[in-house]
Amino acid sequence: MAAINDVTDLEIRDGIAVLTLDSPPVNALSAPVRDGLYKGMQQAIADDNAAAVVLVCAGRTFIAGADITELGSGGPQGASLTDVQDMMESSPKPVVAAIHGTALGGGLETALCCHYRVGVPTALFGLPEVKLGLLPGAGGTQRLPRIVGPEMAVEMVGIGEPMGAEKALEVGLISEIIKGDLTEGAIAFAKKLVAENRPLVRVRDDDSKVAPARGKPEIIDNFRKAHARKNRGFLAPEYNIQCIEAAVELPFEEGLKREGELFRELLKGPQSAAQRYMFFAERQAAKIPDVPKDTSQIPVRKVGVIGAGTMGGGITMNFVNVGIPVTIIETAQEALDRGLAVVRRNYENSAKKGKLTQDEVERRMGLITPSLDMADLGDVDMVIEAVFENMDLKREIFTKLDTICKQGAILATNTSALDINEIAAVTKRPESVIGTHFFSPANVMKLVEVVRGDKTAKEVIATCMALGKKIDKIPVLAGVCHGFIGNRMLFGRRVQADKLILEGATPKRVDDVLYEFGLPMGPFAMSDLAGVDVGWNPKTSQGGSVRDRLCEAGRRGQKTNAGYYDYKEGDRTPVESDVALKIIRDFAAEKGYPQRDVSDQEILERCLFPMINEGAKILEEGIAIRASDIDVVWVYGYGWPVYRGGPMYWANSLGLDKVVARMEEFAKDDPEFWKPAGLLAKLAAEGGKFQ
Ligand code: 3HC
Ligand code: NAI
Repeated sequence: MAAINDVTDLEIRDGIAVLTLDSPPVNALSAPVRDGLYKGMQQAIADDNAAAVVLVCAGRTFIAGADITELGSGGPQGASLTDVQDMMESSPKPVVAAIHGTALGGGLETALCCHYRVGVPTALFGLPEVKLGLLPGAGGTQRLPRIVGPEMAVEMVGIGEPMGAEKALEVGLISEIIKGDLTEGAIAFAKKLVAENRPLVRVRDDDSKVAPARGKPEIIDNFRKAHARKNRGFLAPEYNIQCIEAAVELPFEEGLKREGELFRELLKGPQSAAQRYMFFAERQAAKIPDVPKDTSQIPVRKVGVIGAGTMGGGITMNFVNVGIPVTIIETAQEALDRGLAVVRRNYENSAKKGKLTQDEVERRMGLITPSLDMADLGDVDMVIEAVFENMDLKREIFTKLDTICKQGAILATNTSALDINEIAAVTKRPESVIGTHFFSPANVMKLVEVVRGDKTAKEVIATCMALGKKIDKIPVLAGVCHGFIGNRMLFGRRVQADKLILEGATPKRVDDVLYEFGLPMGPFAMSDLAGVDVGWNPKTSQGGSVRDRLCEAGRRGQKTNAGYYDYKEGDRTPVESDVALKIIRDFAAEKGYPQRDVSDQEILERCLFPMINEGAKILEEGIAIRASDIDVVWVYGYGWPVYRGGPMYWANSLGLDKVVARMEEFAKDDPEFWKPAGLLAKLAAEGGKFQ
């Protein structure tokens, strides 16, 4: 093999030039990769001993896209991707992309400039740029619809999910699936092309798939409408859609120009910057300074879940989805049946949508062993307790688990706020006790806060972090405190939201401001959804708060069709409630709150700045390892809009000095509440940022 550069080799095998990229971890299109490709192609084309070129990658994957670290960091160095693509597309010899792993973003766009593509059966093909707040900026939006048609192309770029090899073959994205050795198979394929004198297919030249959609805007508009709700606030999906429209309506070169303009606009904008930050934040969260990557792990082959309620059922699904059997424990047959019925219904719904076969539903249900006897947990490698949020009950359960579970088994609790150390202390093996805080619905939400107690063993932490990833969650490590990272940051927001409605804002106005910001719902709609009476005690309630009075009036939330809002029977849409507003206004009058028109800006700042302040305390106390972990918690656990990058990133982008200046204004009314955390005050004074 002749080295083209540090990451590229060229060799002639059997009359075919094999150009191999080897740039770990994912062969991203960094400057050396582009240079290697350019020079390698140049040499391969010039070499009389080569009749065709095969492009293949070493390591775990084909090119997984542009180098994201390079995006937005000034002009790219060396050969541009366009130079490389032009060289391939205009090559007088057939160029074949041989794909394994993932051909994503710029990787697939490079492959689309090859005359032919082949792949292994497990290969995945996609243009996921939309997830980074971008669009495929190297011709992907113009070439892909010319192969798969605009309808499928708009799905692929608008959602960003990859396509498997079988499907890719069916729609013509690849020409062959290679079952044996990929390079050998691709060489054989290239030789066949040469022998049969097959044409040099340039995707750009073929309009046959896009032409029929011309003058029929509804084809793409249907997609736009169907995803409008999910895409609320995001720029990139719409820009991607517009590029596919351009592919349909404009000649190739003009479409390419349009794609370039829109790509550059997104790349310069704040949304993509935030989403690229989140890409790395998510990966950073897996790194724990004192628990190195090579820390040994406990094999988890069988799991126990205690409690088949709202959380226990969803947690169980996460494990059986990846083939890990679960024994689930309840106190009464009825509760067990109810819990399992919910799990079955969830699976049946997936089957109805075509996401699971009926056989698969039965296979997954078959992995669940229901039981009323905790003694059945003797052989499990990990238990997750998900019973009521009550310390005495949890202590009782962990005392029992200590006598039942085998040594070395992980004893986890799903508590949303309680002290893990106190729970661990009732066992003789606090090193095996840990928090695994899933979010509701647990089978859907991506976040799991892994909460380490003072004595939790490193291998228990390493196991839970790895297991989290295995069950397709994003685990973030937290320390013990009331509410851990996420819920702890909610408390201050709630204090201010409750106060704002006494000063003249309505629950709807507060909720609307947060919804407009991009959150899925505001605190009052959330309270109605969860139940206004969660944590409320009818025996001690004496009308001491708006919440008490709502509950006393039977307004317990959606379940009673009345809370902060009114609800029509069978309809969850919140409607402003005169009754609730009167309760609020009467309470405010009694307590002497002057009424005023509170601005949207003030509502936003008073709800979100306490979160930033609490986040700063969480950092200085070491509850979170880094600011980006807090952002991951909020994006994946609470639906913070990813295009704003999480609360700590958002605070950095506002400027911490500006945040503190506003807090000082609010402090005139309530100095204790608005006192900046030490870290926040320090960073604001230094012009620093949360790290
Ligand atoms: N650029 C730079 N670094 C990248 C990268 C990229 N495109 N893709 C992955 N990495 C890094 C990760 O940060 C990680 O680094 P770390 O080990 O230091 O944390 C390492 O590669 C491994 O990544 P994962 O942990 O994600 O590994 P997985 O095996 O779980 O997943 C993957 C591999 C499916 C390729 C996944 O990394 C991924 O989805 N990557 C991003 C793909 C993408 O979005 N491509 C489009 C880029 S934008 C583009 O191409 C613009 C173009 O249109 C002009
Ligand atoms: P839930 O009330 O829906 O379910 C609890 C279940 O535990 C009930 O089915 C009950 O019968 C069962 N149970 C009680 N004692 C038991 C025992 N001794 N043995 C076996 N089963 C027993 O409660 P939910 O909402 O599922 O909450 C469970 C835990 O998860 C709590 O600690 C809660 O704080 C936490 N959590 C809840 C979230 C939510 O949104 N509901 C979110 C994240 C955490």
